[in-house]
Amino acid sequence: MESYSPIIWKNEKLYLLDQRLLPKVEIFLEISTLSETINAIKDMVVRGAPCIGFTSIYGMALWVKSQTKLTIENCRMACDEMIASRPTAVNLSFEVNRCFEIMKNFVETKRLASDLYLHLVEFGHLQIKLSHEKNLVMAKIGVAELMKKVGDREWNFMTHCNTGFLACGSLGTALGVISYANQINRVKHVLVDETRPYLQGTRLTAYELSKEGIPFSIVVEGASSFLLSNKKVDAIFVGADRIAANGDTANKIGTSTLAIVAKYYQVPFYVVAPVSSFDISIPNGSHIDIEMRNENEITEFKNNLIAPNGSRAINPSFDVTNNNLITGIICEKGFIDPAIPGELERVLKL
Ligand code: MRU
Repeated sequence: MESYSPIIWKNEKLYLLDQRLLPKVEIFLEISTLSETINAIKDMVVRGAPCIGFTSIYGMALWVKSQTKLTIENCRMACDEMIASRPTAVNLSFEVNRCFEIMKNFVETKRLASDLYLHLVEFGHLQIKLSHEKNLVMAKIGVAELMKKVGDREWNFMTHCNTGFLACGSLGTALGVISYANQINRVKHVLVDETRPYLQGTRLTAYELSKEGIPFSIVVEGASSFLLSNKKVDAIFVGADRIAANGDTANKIGTSTLAIVAKYYQVPFYVVAPVSSFDISIPNGSHIDIEMRNENEITEFKNNLIAPNGSRAINPSFDVTNNNLITGIICEKGFIDPAIPGELERVLKL
């Protein structure tokens, strides 16, 4: 598979592939401070729940390097600043809070800040490496499920937003299933939602699929009912930014619309996400903070106003898909049927 990491650590600096410029321009931005890391996450230089999490680890390492005195209080403040950069993807707080535990331990045992810095960098490297292994496990579970549910033949997929190596560091979650299915010659075609307004589907998923030589067509979200009504899609795979204890799932805006249409036409709908995307501290999706992004992402195209002057827009970046619309949730610990009470917590404990 032709992929590369959108996150590179080299010579004590972080380099992020600027995903805002894809697919036309492939350049990496050099990041050397916590605030540059935060801005890169806010501006979506780097995006996708797992990659936001990995990037934040390096951001915390850069912050530690810049400090003359570390205390538990200033570590917590820096971690909270990082967590506030994007509110919906729980992977961010998951990784930053793990960094905080490491930092706290170093401060309490009076170890050197320079060692903490190196430790955090290694921690970042390890999480990216492990994510590849986890994504492969999920991909295999997804393919096994399709063999059972649809049968051993070439499959037609549909997906929303971007969940490949650009979002996950390697292979991908939902797109990882498609990529793995392609490696064993089981992909007929993929319908890619363009994913308004930021066009992650058109710009990023299409870029990843074309790099892998997987046949695809870009479709507008409004076409979902038409496209699913003709029974030509075997299954829909999407990622997740936060999954509540009952399986309600926050993902890119438009995901829940697709799930509702899929239920109507009885097309299986799967969520694929690592354990770091689960938030079992909240009972259901109503507790998820939905990021509202700038109106100009809707009223402008490439910095050109396309709406009448003074038009207002509403730009929620995510929505919540009700658990009863989801056929299955796949994580590295196994397959979760959200219709079975307690199943999610049981699988996460494995
Ligand atoms: O706003 P983005 O591009 O960060 O949103 C990304 C998504 O919604 C993805 O589908 C989600 O993070 C899952 S990534 C494996």
